[in-house]
Amino acid sequence: MILVPGGRGQLGHDLAALSTDVRAASSAELDVTKVTAADLAGAAAVINCAAYTAVDAAETDEERAFAVNAVGPGRLAEACASVGIPMIQVSTDYVFSGDADRPYETTDPVGPKSAYGRTKLEGERRVLEAGGYVVRTSWVYGVNGSNFVKTMAALESSRPTLSVVDDQAGAPTWSHDLAAGLLELVSVLPETRLLHATGGGETTWFRFAQAIFEELGADPARVRPCTTADFPRPAPRPAYSVLSGASWAKAGLRPLPQWRSALSAAFAAGVVAPRTGAAPLE
Ligand SMILES: NC(=O)c1ccc[n+]([C@@H]2O[C@H](COP(=O)([O-])OP(=O)(O)OC[C@H]3O[C@@H](n4cnc5c(N)ncnc54)[C@H](OP(=O)(O)O)[C@@H]3O)[C@@H](O)[C@H]2O)c1
Repeated sequence: MILVPGGRGQLGHDLAALSTDVRAASSAELDVTKVTAADLAGAAAVINCAAYTAVDAAETDEERAFAVNAVGPGRLAEACASVGIPMIQVSTDYVFSGDADRPYETTDPVGPKSAYGRTKLEGERRVLEAGGYVVRTSWVYGVNGSNFVKTMAALESSRPTLSVVDDQAGAPTWSHDLAAGLLELVSVLPETRLLHATGGGETTWFRFAQAIFEELGADPARVRPCTTADFPRPAPRPAYSVLSGASWAKAGLRPLPQWRSALSAAFAAGVVAPRTGAAPLE
């Protein structure tokens, strides 16, 4: 059995959907900040999907974010080590500064600019120290949870036009593809402990939004480009946070599909509920 704390989030949901061997635990069933080895009874591996993911809220709630993103994964990794089972921690592109002009390798220096990024980085450090795996990913969307794809779909049906930032680049990742990759990782258990796994290629939020409009059968010209400065947010976002897939491929793992074809596959799989009363698309 593969135990998945944070099992009711986007990624945890898709792990459970992919394998009957997964036991997805809700935060009420398993609080990672209090986990002990006794909670791991019957588990052959742990994929930790529990996280404090409210990036802006973390700026004023860093203590709680630290407990969930750093203390919890550290406890979990130590508990896994004590019973001799592998643990995989999911981490983020936000551990990097975002000042790069080429995809980040796992060997590149980190430099988080947000509280969320700092807490996730400390979680990485603790997990690696205890002998666990860390898989960084980015721009995750899936059927279960709030995410950019669902937000754009909702805005498409309520606004004639919308502005989306075109000066932040990254790689969208369908949680279903990442879940499949993590299950492969559990079966392979390569020597390398720090890996990157995202959808292939790169884009900007603006171009991602245009692609979502295409999938919805809406006119992508209704999405207009704007800059980060037009929409100030509490937590700074990395301007460029594409993660290189070289570490993943070198570990003998299958690259995740390209982000654009993954988006089409996600729509075909119903990542966005069809609009009621909408005219059928030709
Ligand atoms: N979403 C993204 O764009 C993105 C990008 C890069 C990396 N990641 C990383 O990918 C992983 C999965 O993200 P996701 O999008 O699936 O997140 P998510 O949908 O926000 O799910 C996170 C889950 O963690 C649970 N949780 C919170 N505190 C907990 C605690 N103390 N103990 C146990 N569970 C707790 C939450 O449960 P409650 O709702 O009950 O609190 C929620 O179900 C995370 O590590 C995240 O940092 C995500």
